[in-house]
Amino acid sequence: MNAPTVVVLAAGQGTRMRSATPKVLHEICGRPMGLWPVVAALQAGAGKVVVVDSPARPLADVLLAERGMLAEGECRPASAGVELVVQPVSNGTGGAVIAAADAIDRAAPVVVLSGDVPLVSAGAIAELAAAHAESGAAATMASTLLDDPSGYGRVVRDADGAVARVVETKKAGDATAEELEIREVNTGIYAFAGEALLRVLPRLSADNAQGELYLPQVLDLLRADGEAVRVHAVDDPNLVLGVNDRVALATVRAIAQRAILERHMLAGVTILDPAATYVDVDVRIGQDARIEPGTSLRGATEVGEGAVVGPHTTLTDTFVGPAATVGPHTTAIDSQIGERATVRVAWLDRAVVGADASVGPFAYLRPDAVVSEGAKVGTFVEVKNSTIGPGAKVPHLSYIGDADVGERANLGAGTITANYDGHEKHRTTIGKRVRGGVDTALVAPVTVGDDAYTAAGSVITEDVPPGALGVARARQQNREGYAERRESALHSEKQ
Ligand code: UD1
Ligand code: CA
Repeated sequence: MNAPTVVVLAAGQGTRMRSATPKVLHEICGRPMGLWPVVAALQAGAGKVVVVDSPARPLADVLLAERGMLAEGECRPASAGVELVVQPVSNGTGGAVIAAADAIDRAAPVVVLSGDVPLVSAGAIAELAAAHAESGAAATMASTLLDDPSGYGRVVRDADGAVARVVETKKAGDATAEELEIREVNTGIYAFAGEALLRVLPRLSADNAQGELYLPQVLDLLRADGEAVRVHAVDDPNLVLGVNDRVALATVRAIAQRAILERHMLAGVTILDPAATYVDVDVRIGQDARIEPGTSLRGATEVGEGAVVGPHTTLTDTFVGPAATVGPHTTAIDSQIGERATVRVAWLDRAVVGADASVGPFAYLRPDAVVSEGAKVGTFVEVKNSTIGPGAKVPHLSYIGDADVGERANLGAGTITANYDGHEKHRTTIGKRVRGGVDTALVAPVTVGDDAYTAAGSVITEDVPPGALGVARARQQNREGYAERRESALHSEKQ
């Protein structure tokens, strides 16, 4: 069997979404809707995938920028297996396939998918292609039975059970009241013999309620040519739900989410409450990690083995290390060994958390925050573009920005880096084993040497040499007898 050409229709306007964003760009678990069928087609072994994009080319950008499926600056790289074509005007699903005609190989089978039927699996595509090849039909339409078929094209069968035609229901006028009772729907997914499809496409007409070229009319035209047209039943309707509005988007998202969570649970991840956990499709989670309720793992996030994330935590494009095994590269901080990387009640965006490190509760890690192995970023602490060294601690109420904090340093509550002078950002360097007093302000650029101390309440504007104590605060004065003097002054005023 020739590997099929897979055409993904994604150029529709998506008016029912009522959105400024093209329908195929609405996200489902971290991946634009229109990319789901593209990924499934590639997994199913498509010879090539042809994506029909609208003139604004929203999918071109996504394919280029996010997925690396297309090489930079190219829009037709056969090498990557994904080709983009543009449907100049949105004149229906038939018009979309016509726009792809030049990219269709007449000698190979063609599978047509919809950019708004995102959950179709590689397995379902392969089964359709196999059923089509086996029957030798010119066209095989995938159908399914729905309890609520509203909005879908209905499959009308002959008295002998063969498919007669598909009636559309989006706009009143195409279907009769009797046809609207039919629960068998066209999934919008088909397999065709390339030659047969290309032969009848030019004969599509817009003679229908929407005045569009309906792809299912291809089935009528093939039958009129005496060709065999088959139906392939898809047993699991969840795989072929179409998304036309945001209600369906939420339904489909929930199905996709459940499948992602089940994949992780079966791989050994504990998810306490799947209904309250959100994990994007490309996230990786190690065995024995534990995800607590209210947690979102987004984008390219990776959670190591045995780590504990949540409750109420959001990680975006963030790496959380595993629970460390004690090995040659493990920094031995007695109390830390054997503990797991934990991230609790925290918001992390493009951060890195090493093995055995602990973050939160109530921590905010911004891009390029690196919390090394065994380090601690505690309560009400914000870290940005900084490295917290192995075993170092920033336990309470701090802002650490553009800083390098050395191994095993311990910064007192309220430590703040003044990294911005109103024009430029400057770095702060804090040496190994530094003991920072509470309420230390570090005015960058500044360096505190290894093993140095800072006194509580200091505003450190000059470097502190290694091993020194930096004191930068006014000396305290106690005025004896002050209360008494104040009291008598007030008393004499009143008289
Ligand atoms: C379509 C089918 C319907 C089927 C349903 C399954 C037609 C006429 N109807 O209806 O029988 O039950 O899918 O979900 O085919 N598109 C283009 N260019 C266009 C119009 C649409 O690329 O000019 C794309 C859309 O982006 C979308 C897909 O084709 O991904 C389906 O279009 P849509 O308008 O949603 O068709 P439905 O009314 O859902
Ligand atoms: Ca649709």
